[in-house]
Parts: sequence; structure tokens; C-alpha cells
Amino acid sequence: MSPITPPRGTRDLLPDEAPAWRWVHELHAAAAARHGYRYIDTPIFEQTDLFSRGIGGGTDIVEKEMYTFTDRGGRSMTLRPEGTAPVLRAVLGAHLEQLLRPVRVHYAMPMFRYDRPQAGRYRQFAQLGVECIGERDASYDAEVIEVAWRFMADLHIDGVEVQVNSLGDRDDRLRYREALVAYYTPLRDSLCEDCRRRLDINPLRLLDCKRDAQYVAAAPLLGDHLGEASRDYFAAVVTQLESAAIPHVHNQRLVRGLDYYAHTAFEFWHTSLAGAQNALGGGGRYDGLAEELGFSPTPGVGYALGVERLLRIAADQQAAPGPHASAQVVVCTASAAAVSQGQQLARELRNRALVVADVSGRGLDKKLREAGRLGARLALLVGLEEGLILRDLQTREQHVITDDTALDAVSEALLRAAREPAA
Ligand code: HAM
Repeated sequence: MSPITPPRGTRDLLPDEAPAWRWVHELHAAAAARHGYRYIDTPIFEQTDLFSRGIGGGTDIVEKEMYTFTDRGGRSMTLRPEGTAPVLRAVLGAHLEQLLRPVRVHYAMPMFRYDRPQAGRYRQFAQLGVECIGERDASYDAEVIEVAWRFMADLHIDGVEVQVNSLGDRDDRLRYREALVAYYTPLRDSLCEDCRRRLDINPLRLLDCKRDAQYVAAAPLLGDHLGEASRDYFAAVVTQLESAAIPHVHNQRLVRGLDYYAHTAFEFWHTSLAGAQNALGGGGRYDGLAEELGFSPTPGVGYALGVERLLRIAADQQAAPGPHASAQVVVCTASAAAVSQGQQLARELRNRALVVADVSGRGLDKKLREAGRLGARLALLVGLEEGLILRDLQTREQHVITDDTALDAVSEALLRAAREPAA
């Protein structure tokens, strides 16, 4: 029987990668908290309607990428492909916006999309995001971009490009939709199959097509169909970004892959991420989403960043922490008679350091080699004729210590080692 492999497009987080993973999560939580965002979490699966209504039929996510299943009660459920619709459902369902506006929340969530796996694109991936719910003002659009921008600076990720665009309001998009239909209809027979369907059900999605890129390049621009109010709103966002000293590019072709956006849409690009995977993250304003989900109209704006992509870049730029040692001290017993003394010493030492006890029947040489592999600096040898021996595994110096001063001797040796790390 061949061993079971993980599902395609998924990754295990192995212990050596865990410090970098936690570092990214902790820095994001700290950056969000500095701006007043509080942590929120939602279920990993939801009623399918939440996403099909929220993200929009005709989007790649809803049409091709959702992990949808019927539960034992005959209900259609979907593994969460994105966080905005669930977070909005949670906030409005709990009426948080009635106590305080805006409601500022941040999250770290696994997402599931049946995408074609490749570097930086997985079927289970993690997003870090924020949502600012309940107010419609350009300052909040700029605020969420600033949270992400400061966070990426904390990660020491250089070379991020902020791409922004305005998708206008519903009327703007209706006008634009007509212009797109007028432009694409004569081209119908030369369009790919997906685009022919998009032309009928969701013309804005025609702009997502990678195969018919030459038509996308010459298509009318949404920016040319914006009303005055939308143009003013976008100008206010740009002014706010300028005052926050956040460099940005106005990308008139940026449309995003989800239907709920209105007005501001943005992405964070990084040159080291090639092709279609060049977005580290994205977001925007979604003022119509609450109504699509059956709630009263409530504006919102937010972003999500892909953890795996952030980590890839942080690793390239050597910004992420490497593997951590499993232990600072390994207590190694020399005989069966020393086991309980060794275990007791290890217990007491754990108030001061990371300690592993090796009370196995293996020889001391093997135990010391193993202690080195755990990344420990010190080994405390218990049960030898000379008494307790404290050994520095890097300098190989060792000396006998007394039972009643053992804990202090280990603490001091660790402090010395931290001050003078061996080469
Ligand atoms: P999104 O652009 O679909 O937006 O995803 C945001 C980020 O998630 C992407 O830029 C990318 O870094 C990461 N990502 C997406 N798909 C994959 C994948 N298959 N593998 C690895 N990483 C991936 C949203 O999800 C919106 N909810 C963002 C938002 C928040 N808008 C408003 N608030």
C-alpha cells in the first residue's frame, strides 16, 4: 500500500517554518491593533448562498473554485474561499455596527479555492485581513491601505507597489457595462468560451480574461464612465494616500476578481511574484455587499493579504526568522538510577528555560549529539560519579556543579551564552 499523500494544492506547516509563520501573524495582529482593529474569526464553512450572492455568479471563484458539498441535512455548504462576506455577516448578524461605527476587525483565516496549484497558488491558503465596517468616507479607504502598508514595512518587504482604481457606483458600472457589451458584441465569435458566457451574464468579468488579453487591452475604460461624485470620491482617497506618504499607481485596468466592490479597489503587487500571481493582496470598498446578504445597507472597506506569498517574499529578502531551537537545555541522564532526579531537575529548570529531558536508555554520546540537533546550547548530565556536569555544547567546556546551585548555574550559563554566542 503506498503512503497517503496530502491533497493537491495543500501544504503542511512543518516546525522549521513555524517561527516565520507565527512572526507574520503576530506582526499583522500588532499592526492592525495599533490602528484599533480587533480580532474576529468565523466558521470555516458557510451556507453556499453567502458566497454565491456575495462574491457574485460569473466570477471564477463562484463558477469554478468553490469547495461546495451537501451536508447530511441536505443543505449546500461551502468551504470559505474569502473572508469579507463571512466577516460582514458576523458583524451585522451580531449588530456590532449599532454600538459603534465603524467596526474595525482583523482576521487570520484559512481559505479554500479549487485553483490550479502552482508556486504561490494553493487550494488551501491563509489570508490576513482587516475590514472597516459601517462608514463611507475616503479616510477609511486610505486607513486600511495604510494598515497593510505599515505591516509590510514591519516585515521588511521592499518593492511593494500599491495599485488603486475606482470601480465607481452602481450607475457608473451600468453605463460601463453597456459600453463593454457594445464593444464586445461584434467580437463574440472570436472570444473564448468563458468570455462568451461572461458577455451574457457578467460583462465586467470579461476584463479578467487572460486568453483574450488583446481585447481587454483595447476595451473601454471604466474611468471614462465615472460620474462626478465617484471621481471626487476617488480623488479624496488619492489625497489621503498622499498625505500618508504611501506611493501608489492609478491602474485603470484594475478590476479585481470579486463582484462586491464599488468605488475604491486596490492591490499590492510585488515584482518577484510572477504573472497572474503578482498580487500579494488586494481589497476595496464593498458598499452594496450587506444588501446582497439580506442586511440593511452598510458600507465597508478592507483588504486581505496572502500569507504564503508574504512569506515567500520575506524569505527571499531574508527578513523572516529561521527555525528556532527546540530546547536551550537538555537534561541527559547517565543511568536508569538517575531518571527521577533528571526529570525533577528538568521540571524545575522549565521555570527558567526551554528544557527537554532525555531519560532514555541511550548512551550519553548519543544523547549529547541529539541535544545538539535540538539546537540546545547546554546539556546537564545527571547521574555521573563526579556529580552534576554542565556542558556547553558549542564551546565543549564543562564543569561540575552542586545540586543546590544547579538551577542558578544553568541560568547564568544561559545568560553568558546569550551575551557571547559561540561562532
Ligand atoms: P483576493 O484578491 O481574492 O481578495 O485575495 C487576496 C489575496 O489572497 C491575494 O492577493 C493572494 O495573495 C491571496 N490568494 C488568493 N488566492 C490564492 C491562492 N489560490 N493561493 C494563495 N494565495 C491566494 C479577497 O479575498 C478579498 N476578500 C479581499 C478583501 C478584503 N476585500 C475587501 N476586504
